[in-house]
Amino acid sequence: MRTLLLVGIGTGNPEHLTVEAINALNQADRLFIPDKGAGKADLADLRREIIARYVTNPSVRQVTYAMPVRDAANPDYAAGVDAWHDAIAERFGALIADIPEGGTGAFLVWGDPGLYDSTLRILERLPQREELTVRVVPGITAIQALTAAHAIPLNRIGEPVHVTTGRRLGPVTEDTVVMLDGRTAFTDADPDLHIFWGAYLGTPDQITIAGRLGDVAQQIIETRKAAREQHGWIMDTYLLRKRD
Ligand SMILES: C[S@@+](CC[C@H](N)C(=O)[O-])C[C@H]1O[C@@H](n2cnc3c(N)ncnc32)[C@H](O)[C@@H]1O
Repeated sequence: MRTLLLVGIGTGNPEHLTVEAINALNQADRLFIPDKGAGKADLADLRREIIARYVTNPSVRQVTYAMPVRDAANPDYAAGVDAWHDAIAERFGALIADIPEGGTGAFLVWGDPGLYDSTLRILERLPQREELTVRVVPGITAIQALTAAHAIPLNRIGEPVHVTTGRRLGPVTEDTVVMLDGRTAFTDADPDLHIFWGAYLGTPDQITIAGRLGDVAQQIIETRKAAREQHGWIMDTYLLRKRD
């Protein structure tokens, strides 16, 4: 029996790691680091920095693997997720086969493995899934990093919060967190909403903007564009809230 740890590493600040996460990384025989291509080298570097800073067990081995890329040029892009997950599952299968029998491998998962992350779902595709013990170590999510950066509570007293993606953002009827938004979906929302926006949350490059949506939307669009050009990638998250 092999053990697989999905260790939440937070959203870009090595200090987001919990003590549980540090102990888990030090227990592993193999640490798996995805290489998502040159444009996202910062993300692989952060994982290496975490390992250099916290992994003191000399027998832990780092294994970098090329992450299959989803083909955005394919007209069947939305439907293509299944094939993409199959390709990742195949890669995971090879990594897991390399864990010594009775040993432990660990994936360093961005944020928390339970929020908009497919690692758990992809593991379900593996033919050897039943022979694996899977353990999740929770991490700080982009939502927590966002509300902390703005020093606001996520919810209002007794109120619900809706979490969605940019693609699925519809009319905002309750407080709504938007992630995975490549198309600045907030531009279609009611300008009287309040937005709390953050990019590169937790990193030294963190940017935050807040205000009445109609007043700050253009500033966010321009800031986002310039930052994306400068870094080659961007991750941003925002909360839309009706004003009291
Ligand atoms: C694939 S999801 C991963 C979410 C992650 N598992 C979590 O717990 O936050 C990627 C999305 O998370 C958000 N995100 C992740 N890291 C972020 C960061 N440092 N700053 C702002 N948003 C971030 C963005 O909305 C991004 O599109």
